[in-house]
Amino acid sequence: MWPYPKVLAHRGGGTLAPENTLAGFRTGLQFGYRAAEFDVMLTRDEVPILMHDPKRGRTLPGEGQIAETDWAQLRDLEAGAWLNASFAGERICTLEQGLDFCLEHGIWMNVEIKPGAPEQARRTGELAALAVGRRFTAALEALRDNPAGAQAATLPVLSSFSFEALMAAREAAPDLPRGFLVDVIPADWQAHLEQLQAVALHTSHKNLTPELAGQVKAAGYGLFCYTVNDAARAAQIKEWGVDAFCTDRIDLIAADAW
Ligand code: G3P
Ligand code: MG
Repeated sequence: MWPYPKVLAHRGGGTLAPENTLAGFRTGLQFGYRAAEFDVMLTRDEVPILMHDPKRGRTLPGEGQIAETDWAQLRDLEAGAWLNASFAGERICTLEQGLDFCLEHGIWMNVEIKPGAPEQARRTGELAALAVGRRFTAALEALRDNPAGAQAATLPVLSSFSFEALMAAREAAPDLPRGFLVDVIPADWQAHLEQLQAVALHTSHKNLTPELAGQVKAAGYGLFCYTVNDAARAAQIKEWGVDAFCTDRIDLIAADAW
């Protein structure tokens, strides 16, 4: 149900590094993390980049929506100093650069497809899935011959709060596993997972109950939680049957905690 790593750094390296940057992945590695969640958004000119906020102002200086800005206007912006002067000079990266880094360093990926504008939902899902799928062609081919092969655990999971984006990802790269993200688990969660042919439900640990966790697991799905920053809470949701989680506090929770 969840052959993947169980403890992931959130947004690359949690809150110890500028989120969704290569510095984040590097920091994760320093703490022994070889699994990460990160967010993918499209620029106006449809370059998939690692980005959480739909607009500049917090992690990138200046103003304006990412969906209305070209990559050329974003690529040279300071992306590290907002967190800590020691990260000054860090830049945002494209999905391609993020994939390069993660593959080179053996970092497993939960790729969250995060459309910056509703009208970009389908295209974000499609382009993210195609980019990821291209990097896993060999593994996907091997799995077609032997579905139980060890490569299954190496495939990234594509996740999204956007049903539309995830459906487009399914159409573009049907063999890549998908996780449907919800803040609060809705009554019709299983119908959504079936439509998406998803392998897992991803949800906030804050709104999870042991009953709901039991229902998801009894239905045969993986169950992933965001964002758990406390070791005692992590232990509690493990008892409930949660398979994996991401954390901002890679300094407090060991990568091999589960
Ligand atoms: O993938 C789980 C988590 O990252 C969702 O929340 O806002 O940090 O992308 P957010
Ligand atoms: Mg995310």
